[in-house]
Amino acid sequence: MLFSRLLKRILLVVLWCCGFTLVQCLNFSFPKFQDNDLKDLIRSNSYVVKGAIQVTPDVSGAPIWNETGRALYKKPFKQWINGKGKSRILASFSSTFVINITPMTDPGGEGLAFILCENTTVPENSEGKWLGIVNANTNGSSHARIVAVEFDTRKSYEEDIDNNHVGLDVNSIYSTKQVPLYGVNLSSGTDITVEVLYDGKNISVSFPLSNGTVKNPVLSMPINLSDLLPQSTFVGFSASTGNNTQLNCIKSWDFYSSDIGENPNLLWVWITVPVVVVLLSGVIFYLYWKRKHGKEILEDVHLTIEEVIEGHSMAPKKFRLKEIRRATGKFDPKNKLGNGAFGTVYKGLLGNKEIAVKRVSKYSQQGKQEFISEVTTIGSLRHKNLVKLIGWCYESHELLLVYEYMPNGSLDKFIFGDEKLDMKIESMLSWERRHTIIHGVAQALDYLHNGCEKKVLHRDIKCSNIMLDSEFNAKLGDFGLARIIQQSEKTHHTTKEIAGTLGYMAPESFLIGRATVETDVYAFGILVLVVVCGRKAGKQNEHNSYSSSIVLWVWDLYSKGRILEAVDNRLEVVSEEEMVREVILGLACCHPNPHERPTMRTVLKVLTGEAKPPMVSTEVPAFVWPPMPSFSDYTETGLQGGQLTPFTELTGR
Ligand SMILES: *[C@@H]1O[C@H](CO)[C@@H](O)[C@H](O)[C@H]1NC(C)=O
Ligand SMILES: *[C@@H]1O[C@H](CO)[C@@H](O)[C@H](O)[C@H]1NC(C)=O
Ligand SMILES: *[C@@H]1O[C@H](CO)[C@@H](O)[C@H](O)[C@H]1NC(C)=O
Ligand SMILES: *[C@@H]1O[C@H](CO)[C@@H](O)[C@H](O)[C@H]1NC(C)=O
Ligand SMILES: *[C@@H]1O[C@H](CO)[C@@H](O)[C@H](O)[C@H]1NC(C)=O
Ligand SMILES: *[C@@H]1O[C@H](CO)[C@@H](O)[C@H](O)[C@H]1NC(C)=O
Ligand SMILES: *[C@@H]1O[C@H](CO)[C@@H](O)[C@H](O)[C@H]1NC(C)=O
Ligand SMILES: *[C@@H]1O[C@H](CO)[C@@H](O)[C@H](O)[C@H]1NC(C)=O
Ligand SMILES: *[C@@H]1O[C@H](CO)[C@@H](O)[C@H](O)[C@H]1NC(C)=O
Repeated sequence: MLFSRLLKRILLVVLWCCGFTLVQCLNFSFPKFQDNDLKDLIRSNSYVVKGAIQVTPDVSGAPIWNETGRALYKKPFKQWINGKGKSRILASFSSTFVINITPMTDPGGEGLAFILCENTTVPENSEGKWLGIVNANTNGSSHARIVAVEFDTRKSYEEDIDNNHVGLDVNSIYSTKQVPLYGVNLSSGTDITVEVLYDGKNISVSFPLSNGTVKNPVLSMPINLSDLLPQSTFVGFSASTGNNTQLNCIKSWDFYSSDIGENPNLLWVWITVPVVVVLLSGVIFYLYWKRKHGKEILEDVHLTIEEVIEGHSMAPKKFRLKEIRRATGKFDPKNKLGNGAFGTVYKGLLGNKEIAVKRVSKYSQQGKQEFISEVTTIGSLRHKNLVKLIGWCYESHELLLVYEYMPNGSLDKFIFGDEKLDMKIESMLSWERRHTIIHGVAQALDYLHNGCEKKVLHRDIKCSNIMLDSEFNAKLGDFGLARIIQQSEKTHHTTKEIAGTLGYMAPESFLIGRATVETDVYAFGILVLVVVCGRKAGKQNEHNSYSSSIVLWVWDLYSKGRILEAVDNRLEVVSEEEMVREVILGLACCHPNPHERPTMRTVLKVLTGEAKPPMVSTEVPAFVWPPMPSFSDYTETGLQGGQLTPFTELTGR
């Protein structure tokens, strides 16, 4: 796979850099050579025998003609590093060693060299006059990458001055400088101490005397090793024999190089390479992950959700999951405000603004549907009695809705109390507040049905969906079931899906299987009765809520002329007339016949006192289907026309 190959390459670069920077100054000392020193040497055709490195093999007795060998210290040393700009910092070094050249033929041959090189392997065909330094192919080439101090014991060709000289060889066997030796007989078979010094500018070769006196160097020459050698340079010896042979021995060896510190360039590499590696691996894994999961994402419903929402011109702000997680303390259970139908609501702090975050259950298809409904309906609505949707978020399969925070929570706990909050019945809402709440909800519904650009059915009006702000103003919330009514669209429904809350559902809902403006009015009527009477809507488990609901109970009292008894007895009677008016309004809204129910416009007028409540018969009207007044309008083709308002059709789920 392409990515893994790339990754491997990156890792190799890193390892290479590590190896590179581990090359530091090199100090070592071999007073003599023993078998266990073998591990510290890289040898080509050389051996450690008789306490010495036999650079060309010493195979006692056997002919050693045409031999060549190298012995190098196992680790290279840092010869140079890049300095500021284009400058280079060079290491200085000093190396002292004892050589012993014993001729095996008369005369002996060919010679020994102290070398600084890149390649640890002795070149092929570098025996004889080549001294194991270069061969015919590499002689004179800058690719040879070798600098040698030769101790030549044989005049092998024209340019050699004699058979006992020291020379400096740079990528060539032809010495850049050679010095004949006087007073030192290289092939005398005696131990000769040699000192090679490099101060970063000049290289010098000297033969210290046995009493410690260092004579003037026999050879000294300026040389810029950084131009000739790699940063990591191996150091050691090479030697060769030809038709004439000798034993080329190194009996002891010290080497000290100066510490020139980290290579700034490599330091840079050290820092950047891991960063680049991390970033690249991140990108690679992301691409890999995307390739693997890409299809899944495209097929996911969530993308459709985004498309649907973002296609909406009035769509509210889109939040990042990060922001919301931070706002809610990672959905800390401590911040939980309650459980809704399709999710959990958390309190959060966005900046210094309190918010309520609804975390829609991601596993329910209905939850996703609700999510879209909320964002596309409530998100585009603005009314003081509607809960304001600030924004939404879909990320990592999280469906989140961000609302303004309602400090007083939902209405139901003020009507029925909340065991968890240990709320006292006495601290319940006053009549004035209840009236304001009912009025607020009526305004919100009127706005939805008649006021806003698109007509909206809420479909789930009930106490727990009415939120209260700090001044106990009602805010209609939870638009999960809400639908925008498109007047042009008059397609008939094939699905008879019933949505809403039992107890608040108009009796005809179960027959027509869909919501209408009238079913919203019915639910509002139940809400009015619940708020005024302080009683639950009805038996929650009965399908036909009408027969078991609060409506029948109140109607019964009404028919007996004891309507005031229906009013919550915990309330102080402030305005008997207003109370009675609102109970009757509630009953009117709950008329079993949808055509008898007032519109929200009328409801508002009644609440403000502009209009009298609709006439409600004292007899409990029977639920008759089809609805009585429009019986003649009912056709086999369905419910089109009639007295049902024209926008009772709703868009399909
Ligand atoms: C050494 O090599 C040369 C040529 O490379 C060859 O002529 C000579 O015979 C060889 N010497 C011995 C002793 O094998
Ligand atoms: C050696 O050469 C490098 C660049 O090639 C330069 O930066 C450095 O100063 C030179 N050193 C000396 C001692 O001239
Ligand atoms: C080192 O030298 C050997 C023998 O001449 C050659 O085979 C090898 O390719 C060289 N290595 C490098 C890295 O130049
Ligand atoms: C080796 O190369 C040098 C040039 O660097 C040249 O002068 C010399 O003649 C060559 N020696 C041999 C033996 O080819
Ligand atoms: C060096 O020593 C060897 C062996 O003792 C001898 O044969 C040779 O002549 C000497 N060379 C010089 C230049 O004195
Ligand atoms: C380097 O060698 C040259 C020539 O032998 C000499 O003039 C110079 O002073 C030397 N420089 C150092 C720093 O030893
Ligand atoms: C070392 O030996 C040389 C010659 O053998 C002599 O000239 C020199 O004075 C000696 N130096 C010391 C410090 O003994
Ligand atoms: C080595 O000796 C052989 C003959 O014995 C000769 O042909 C050859 O040229 C010699 N090689 C060298 C490098 O002297
Ligand atoms: C190596 O030897 C040199 C010279 O003796 C000394 O300055 C340097 O500190 C030594 N470095 C280490 C790492 O031992």
